Amino acid sequence: MNLMKTFYITTPIYYPSGKYHIGSAYTTCLCDSVKKYKQLNGYDARFLTGNDEHGQKMAETARKNNKTPQEHVDYMAELSKELWELLKIDYDDFIRTTEDRHEVVVQKIFERLLENNDIYLGEYSGHYCMSCEAYFTETQLIDGNICPDCGLETKVLKEETYFLRLSKYADRLLEYIEKNPDFIVPETRKNEVVQFVKSGLNDLSVSRTAFDWGVKVKSNPKHIVYVWIDALSNYITALGYGSDNDKLYQKYWVNGDEVIHVVGKDILRFHAIYWPIMLMALDLPIKFRLFAHGWYLMKDGKMSKSKGNVIYPEQLVDAYGLDAFRYYIVRELTYGHDGEFTPENYVKRINTDLANDYGNLVSRTVSMVNKYFDGKVSTTKHNHDYKEFELDLEKVANESFINYKNAMDEFKIAEALSEISALVRRTNKLIDDTFPWDLAKEESKKEVLESVMYHLLEGIRLITILYQPFLLETTPKVFSDLEVENKYRGFDAYQFGQIESYQVAKKIKHLFPRLDVEKESEHIREMMASNKPKEEPKKDYQVKPEIDFNDFTKLDLVVGKIIDAKPHDNADKLLVFTVDTGDKIRSIVSGIAKYYQPKELINKNVLVVVNLKPVKLRGVLSEGMILSVESKNGELTVIELPQNLKPGDKIN
Ligand code: MSP
Repeated sequence: MNLMKTFYITTPIYYPSGKYHIGSAYTTCLCDSVKKYKQLNGYDARFLTGNDEHGQKMAETARKNNKTPQEHVDYMAELSKELWELLKIDYDDFIRTTEDRHEVVVQKIFERLLENNDIYLGEYSGHYCMSCEAYFTETQLIDGNICPDCGLETKVLKEETYFLRLSKYADRLLEYIEKNPDFIVPETRKNEVVQFVKSGLNDLSVSRTAFDWGVKVKSNPKHIVYVWIDALSNYITALGYGSDNDKLYQKYWVNGDEVIHVVGKDILRFHAIYWPIMLMALDLPIKFRLFAHGWYLMKDGKMSKSKGNVIYPEQLVDAYGLDAFRYYIVRELTYGHDGEFTPENYVKRINTDLANDYGNLVSRTVSMVNKYFDGKVSTTKHNHDYKEFELDLEKVANESFINYKNAMDEFKIAEALSEISALVRRTNKLIDDTFPWDLAKEESKKEVLESVMYHLLEGIRLITILYQPFLLETTPKVFSDLEVENKYRGFDAYQFGQIESYQVAKKIKHLFPRLDVEKESEHIREMMASNKPKEEPKKDYQVKPEIDFNDFTKLDLVVGKIIDAKPHDNADKLLVFTVDTGDKIRSIVSGIAKYYQPKELINKNVLVVVNLKPVKLRGVLSEGMILSVESKNGELTVIELPQNLKPGDKIN
């Protein structure tokens, strides 16, 4: 019988619409590091990732690339696996939603929900956004037909559709969340979900008839299963749920000890509402917890190829190595918050934590041990003047271990890593406190010097134990340079004094060469600029039917000054602006959150249509429209007007 506790961790399955940038790499590296950490803790850990390959958007992307959808997703699956291989991601399974093992079970899940009357057939008529694969009500639309989430045009569709009875399960879900306070972390995200459920859940449309790239509903094949029902099921279809061999499902899910889905904040609702309700309706256990993380943003807002601010993991790994990338990517975002990628931070972070602190400690220590003791030192008794420093280091190391574990157990990776950095600095301080070069001058201090060296080596060993889930190439190198046997590399050997004596390598290479901040930041900026598409993809454009001058004059266009801007509480893709348009201060909602951080636009003069009929967009009043330019590839840029203009100045 297996007595090890089990741990099952998953990334979202990614949409393979384009090359993965550092955002996707973030979640995947985080999960991989947590898996390795759990293994060091003695868990039987399993890690699932994969691709979400169905849906109209995917079919559209394939068409643009002159491929069939299947050709496109096959090609992208290979590219994804190559990236994960480069990043040394140790996943146990890679699920693709176009695989038989998945599709067959999704069909079964759908049929079962139908049998239980949790899914019923109805009709849906509304404005459909192809890009978001979602319907919107009239009051949600911007300007009559624009999607409030992505800003693209919607189409009126009427279709027969199946609905999932979300409403039936809302109370049970709230009760579940209340009884399981750790179900959704961080707490702020949990609160968002609770608020949303409390505001009322409508039944969810869970099938489509307008396209066919997806899983067919078995009993009514003109319907395609809604992409999110299809996608969410992956977490159990990959374990063999519903198949002839469901051993893994029984082991890691039904009888499993811990299951964690790591997701970005933008897809929290699907995981925190639809997924548990699906499981309740299927009468399956809700075994998972959710960790919702923030986003990597760029100085000028979100990552976008056309802004020339996208950076790919391959480029950074190629230039500065795998460990530097894996370290940075999980270090820079703090728990649950968004963070900014900047070339300077990237270089400085590597220099400070890895080159100056850790790398330097290892190289200084190894060279002193060689110089003073010909590479060999043994443990000594604490019977000398410097024992206080050594004892204090031992104490700090013990505390660091506890703090590191607490942080890792709660997915506070940045905190865990800064705990290690503090221990590195404390170990380096032993050198500053004891002046080994002075001790070396006196023969009578030889034993003291040996004890200091021994403590430095043990300090390095403990630090290296903690770094193992992150620095995949460096830590085995350090262990082998210090000739640390495998049995002293685990968490169970994390204690000063475990190794009797050390024999270190004669010469070691610097673990992380120090980088020139200015030069290398510039190099990263150049790489980012080189990712900007040279030529914009062509989009068919047809001039609209002619209008009279009179029609044009009906529009009241004025200069507006943006006084304030904030995210919309209920829609990730919307921003809410407070705009001075001369006549009054207006609230204007705009679907540009994908392209701008709110603060970027404050104090800017913009072009506003002020006589549009006010509408409520996801509950917030919008009294006008801020005009933007849509580039050929669909990116929006707000039209900025010169600063000398005043709010209310007319545009003729
Ligand atoms: N296919 C769905 C997930 C289905 S899971 C049953 C999906 N795919 S996605 O490719 O659009 O996004 C995958 C994940 O990448 C999401 O968790 C999203 O938050 C994350 N990220 C995308 N860009 C990101 C950053 N810039 N920074 C951090 N994570 C980001 O949604």
